[in-house]
Amino acid sequence: MFAIPTADPLPLPSPPWLLWALLMLTFLLHLIPMNIVLGGSIISAVSRFRQNDDARRLAAWFGKLMPSAVAATITFGVAPLLFVQALYGRLFFSSSVLMARFWFAVVPILIVAYYGTYLISFRGEKVGKVLTPIVALLFASVAFIYCNDMSFMLRPQTFLGRYLADARGVQLNVTDPTFVPRLLHMLLGAIAVAGFVVVIYGAVKRRSDVRHGEWALRHGALWLAGATALNVATGMWWLLALPRDVILRLTPAWLAAGIVFSVITFALILAAPHRRVVWSGLALLATLVTMIFARDDLRRAMLDTAGFHLVTRTAPQWDVIALFAVLLVAALGISGTMVVGLLRARPAPS
Ligand code: HEM
Repeated sequence: MFAIPTADPLPLPSPPWLLWALLMLTFLLHLIPMNIVLGGSIISAVSRFRQNDDARRLAAWFGKLMPSAVAATITFGVAPLLFVQALYGRLFFSSSVLMARFWFAVVPILIVAYYGTYLISFRGEKVGKVLTPIVALLFASVAFIYCNDMSFMLRPQTFLGRYLADARGVQLNVTDPTFVPRLLHMLLGAIAVAGFVVVIYGAVKRRSDVRHGEWALRHGALWLAGATALNVATGMWWLLALPRDVILRLTPAWLAAGIVFSVITFALILAAPHRRVVWSGLALLATLVTMIFARDDLRRAMLDTAGFHLVTRTAPQWDVIALFAVLLVAALGISGTMVVGLLRARPAPS
């Protein structure tokens, strides 16, 4: 016997399919800069310790990029947070209450890490060696907390017992057999995406500095391919750690498509990184989209087996939804312009 918290008596402000579609879209918008921040800080932490001028130049470039990428991650994190709350609020709030102290810790951790990225950006070499690994660790700890919450909310059958056992908000979901493979899969996925950012950096640099550009193309391709190869193992581990009745409810097409696209990305990037940047970028984007759907499908299957049903009462607020759509398009346009500006920017004279 377990209790899923009862639904709020309030209707949803939009049809559930629209909230779901916006959750998928805005999570993709969060995922891309988040992977650059998380994977990029890990790649630059490793690069800081290499006795190689190319690696040091790459770490310095990541250092300059990081403050903008953190701002984009946080801003684009707010929208999926709203849609997760609207659709799964009673699960998400319950798991967040059970791990409240860790959940609240995200804000100070992010503030310290964000300051750290500015210090690295302004002071470069002087502080980079010490601060970059610390900042990478702080971002990884935010990912650790999010993975805990996102997997905890899928286990509503454990809420009551765990709350009665300890209501101080210090519980984590690390004993869940899916937790470790989930976290590793997220970390390696972030490294793969950041590896692709190094490939883009290499393709742009190659125009002015052929040797360094080609080094970066190869280096980024190796990070992407290595992380993707390892992710096949963590993905299988995650799948096999799921309860059998959940596995039987999954839609195999999403997983199959994700695997096919990741193999295509892997092959394209290793075959000829300099000639296949656009195609491997598209294949990587397709991998991310299909993996987002697979992750959502897993959430549906887990919650089905737990007996959870979405609220279906709706009272659509179309004027607010239209305003949101206009602002989203404007935000995408402005962000796109900023990315192009960043790629074309010349370094300021020191
Ligand atoms: C640099 C800091 C951040 C990192 C490294 C990070 C990392 C992550 C990771 C790894 C996940 C996937 C968790 C899983 O599925 O197990 C995730 C999901 C999520 N993040 Fe972030 N995050 C960051 C900042 C934020 C912020 C500031 C917000 C909100 C303002 C946010 C909102 C979300 C939401 C709502 C989801 C779940 C979406 C869904 O379930 O569909 N994130 N994040």
